[in-house]
Amino acid sequence: MMERLGTWGLRLVNLAAFCFLILVQSSSAQNGEFCEQQISTTDTNGIVWTTDDLYFPDRQTCHEISRPVENSEGNSIRTFDIGDPGKVCYSLTTKLDQDYLVRGNFSYGDSLAPSLFDIFIGVTPIAQVSSASSSGNESAVEGIFRARNDHVDFCLLKTEGDPYISQLELRPLDSDSDYYLNGDSGIVLKLIKRVNLGSTGEDIRYPDDPSDRIWKSEAGAIGEIIHGTTNFNTTRVPIKVLQTAMASSDRLVLLSSGLETQQYNYTIFLYFLELNNSIRPGERVFDIYVNSEKTRDGFDIQGKGSTYREVALNVTARGSLNLTLVKVSNESVVFGPICNAYEILQVYSWSQESAQGDVDVMMNVKTELWRSNSESKVLSTWWGDPCLPIPWQGLVCDNISGSSVVTKIHLSWKHLSGLIPPSITTLVHLNEVNLSYNLFTGQIPSFLASSSLRSLDVRGNDLTAPIPESLFSLPNLTTLYFGCNPHLIKASPASLNDLKLTTDYGICTGVESSKSKRELVIVAAAIGSVLIIALGILIFCLYRRKFSFKRYDMKGYIIKKNAVSSIPSKEDLVLKSICIQTFTLQCIEAATQKYKTLIGEGGFGSVFRGTLYDGQEVAVKVRSATSTQGTREFENELNLLSAIRHENLVPLLGFCCENDQQILVYPFMSNGSLQDRLYGEASKRKILDWPTRLSIALGAARGLTHLHTFAGRCVIHRDVKSSNILLDQSMNAKVADFGFSKYAPQEGDSCASLEVRGTAGYLDPEYYSTQHLSAKSDVFSFGVVLLEIVSGREPLNIHRPRNEWSLVEWAKPYIREQKIEEIVDPNLKGMYHAEAMWRVVEVALACIENYSDYRPSMANIVRELEDALIIENNASEYMKSIDSFGGSNRFSIIIEKKAVLFPTQEQAAEVSPLSSQPLAPPEPR
Ligand SMILES: *[C@@H]1O[C@H](CO)[C@@H](O)[C@H](O)[C@H]1NC(C)=O
Ligand SMILES: *[C@@H]1O[C@H](CO)[C@@H](O)[C@H](O)[C@H]1NC(C)=O
Ligand SMILES: *[C@@H]1O[C@H](CO)[C@@H](O)[C@H](O)[C@H]1NC(C)=O
Ligand SMILES: *[C@@H]1O[C@H](CO)[C@@H](O)[C@H](O)[C@H]1NC(C)=O
Ligand SMILES: *[C@@H]1O[C@H](CO)[C@@H](O)[C@H](O)[C@H]1NC(C)=O
Ligand SMILES: *[C@@H]1O[C@H](CO)[C@@H](O)[C@H](O)[C@H]1NC(C)=O
Ligand SMILES: *[C@@H]1O[C@H](CO)[C@@H](O)[C@H](O)[C@H]1NC(C)=O
Repeated sequence: MMERLGTWGLRLVNLAAFCFLILVQSSSAQNGEFCEQQISTTDTNGIVWTTDDLYFPDRQTCHEISRPVENSEGNSIRTFDIGDPGKVCYSLTTKLDQDYLVRGNFSYGDSLAPSLFDIFIGVTPIAQVSSASSSGNESAVEGIFRARNDHVDFCLLKTEGDPYISQLELRPLDSDSDYYLNGDSGIVLKLIKRVNLGSTGEDIRYPDDPSDRIWKSEAGAIGEIIHGTTNFNTTRVPIKVLQTAMASSDRLVLLSSGLETQQYNYTIFLYFLELNNSIRPGERVFDIYVNSEKTRDGFDIQGKGSTYREVALNVTARGSLNLTLVKVSNESVVFGPICNAYEILQVYSWSQESAQGDVDVMMNVKTELWRSNSESKVLSTWWGDPCLPIPWQGLVCDNISGSSVVTKIHLSWKHLSGLIPPSITTLVHLNEVNLSYNLFTGQIPSFLASSSLRSLDVRGNDLTAPIPESLFSLPNLTTLYFGCNPHLIKASPASLNDLKLTTDYGICTGVESSKSKRELVIVAAAIGSVLIIALGILIFCLYRRKFSFKRYDMKGYIIKKNAVSSIPSKEDLVLKSICIQTFTLQCIEAATQKYKTLIGEGGFGSVFRGTLYDGQEVAVKVRSATSTQGTREFENELNLLSAIRHENLVPLLGFCCENDQQILVYPFMSNGSLQDRLYGEASKRKILDWPTRLSIALGAARGLTHLHTFAGRCVIHRDVKSSNILLDQSMNAKVADFGFSKYAPQEGDSCASLEVRGTAGYLDPEYYSTQHLSAKSDVFSFGVVLLEIVSGREPLNIHRPRNEWSLVEWAKPYIREQKIEEIVDPNLKGMYHAEAMWRVVEVALACIENYSDYRPSMANIVRELEDALIIENNASEYMKSIDSFGGSNRFSIIIEKKAVLFPTQEQAAEVSPLSSQPLAPPEPR
């Protein structure tokens, strides 16, 4: 650990002995909620902070950050090194129907590797935090909500890099502050601004504000600063805040820019106190405008008989808010507007969590599994809501009558021991359970008679008899595998046949699985020696290309894993003769002018632009020391890339391995990535037209086909996405970034338990839940890319309305209802041939089938896209010819033709293998 930190540079000095920083502040400011042995610290404001060790006892994730600025001591930060996609949550105790302020502080992220993550209250996304944008400045996210339960989750959802947090504060708001929500538990307010007008000094917070709202002074506000010595007393706003104000003889303008570019509702609170005792009612009267709309006419602070008044406004806005107070022109009005403080809060509607029953059950399941598996990697990712915004690893959720429920549990090959958690039997919508090849003991639990269980797979554990009778009376059970459990009796085929079950009758089809942890240790020790011999044999065998493993052979499985990562295949050796260049570090530094121009960041590290001595423009990928991908990926990429050459794949020019640096050199692709072109910055300059999009899709598909059929074996890309499809100067598509590539498991392998890798929004749900990787996972991701090309939308955007977060989920229903105009990029309207578009959309739909068996191969996709391109090009030619005769109704002629819709079942077979719409999932084996 220390070594790793050492390479991070000077700013991270050492690990904190105790992680002080993250603290949870509850009830009152004086006492933290936690027991005495908790270490606590009091800051200069008198706020007591306690550590979050209770939530995350793992000290390894706690970093103390010291930096050469004042007040730097004692700044810790917790970073979460989690998989992708992944989230972590603090589950905070709340009281039902109590209003709360919750504030996360994400300062000091700039000391870390680049990262980007979203903040959720419950499952409602309220902000995005980036380590890059917080450079040196403080960044905090504050929300106000009404508790709907006895706890609330505060979650960080990773997009890129490691999420981090330095402080977390939860404060009950007293009954005087209930005006924020007016009892509405259906919304969350996110603080945009809370300004103490007329102040130039320090923030005002606890103890002046008992709720520790932070009132900041506003730099750059224009107006006259007024100080008053009022002793007016309200519990709504701290008196210190009311003692200053901003005034103007004519108009007071308060501008807030940089708001969300989409339309949102905002609630604005304005606080007024007349600081000048000599002013009478009617002498200071003004109108209040929000974005040029008059929202208050003739507002007089003293109009209600008091010198204090508040105004609450609900407005809808995008981009910016302009609050303007204008003096009423009337002879009796002598004074211009004044304002003491204001707040702007953005209104989010509360997103519905998963069905409460399932949430409770999954919490129990987690607790039950945790007892024997506290080291489990899978369980360490189980935080917050089990289904939203992404399901826990190993779960599949569905939306049933409006709420998310758990329907499948896939936890095979996870080294889980102890009892099968009995709680799973109470999941109402659970229909598939796969717990095969773990170390579970005890009996198979009894499912309720009302259970909708269809498939149960508990092979390869150490379960004991009897199999509960009730299992055989489950109405919907069609599949039952229980072989390779030495203490479970085999069933007679006849008795199970009566039940019309697909089953293995309890017969073990592989080698008997390990019977206990102890035996596993012995096996492992034996494997050490066996391995050496086995590797020898293996090399021999691989070279003869006759080696294949038996299904579910545990020993074979282990050996296989090692073999894949360490032994180059014959193809590698042969093709290695394609030479790639070795660059010196000096040469790289000269080419990039010491890493001057950063053009991108990825999982691997940073990408810089450079020019080689011979004038060739290159992109130089430098592995960041903190990159979660390791040397293994580096070598992977080298081995693969050097051997694979295709016009639609980005070739590797060379590499540099000096001084522990891992650097790859590629040709520079002058037109950036498909993602930039579709919805990035570049898209604003020039919209990609439809024929170009089509040819890019086709190019990328050809590149992937080459990978999938490379030298008779299958190379799976594993991270197909629009940002990995680059465009050269002639807009030819080239697939990039083979860092995640792996040789595909060969026929006969058991499930490859590789860690799930990929990018949220593109992940094949089947791969994600079963971790079984196949070329069809790339096909799924490619389907998502096709949808991006069609719609111009990003695959995952939680800043859109809830039902549009996922491109796939949003687009599917429209395609099924044949309303593709709804999903086509508005920039393409009328600029495409309907049939060509339909071809592409149909391919995309087939690609994103949940079951990989139904997805087409890349070669099929290439054929379909070629057809689409031909149709499109012919149409363009046709139109050109019409144009030359001065035709004005350019596109109407073509589009009137009815698009190709979904063929019926019989037609499907002849028309295209892609368009069939299977109704039921295939039987598992
Ligand atoms: C966030 O934490 C930093 C460091 O402790 C502190 O200086 C800053 O005031 C905090 N910001 C908020 C809003 O609490
Ligand atoms: C952080 O501060 C720098 C300079 O102090 C400023 O340029 C930058 O915009 C700030 N970033 C944010 C997100 O406020
Ligand atoms: C404000 O009023 C509260 C009770 O309403 C009282 O306890 C407090 O002392 C008052 N503060 C001042 C400054 O008058
Ligand atoms: C804003 O509020 C109105 C009325 O409360 C509601 O109909 C509308 O959907 C809200 N708009 C957004 C973007 O939340
Ligand atoms: C803000 O609104 C006021 C009143 O509608 C208008 O006169 C002023 O020009 C606006 N200012 C900006 C910067 O938009
Ligand atoms: C603003 O909207 C909230 C609900 O979002 C409502 O409770 C409140 O009464 C509204 N306030 C005004 C002034 O319309
Ligand atoms: C069994 O499956 C049928 C059809 O899918 C469904 O209607 C029924 O509700 C299921 N039975 C149970 C107990 O879930």
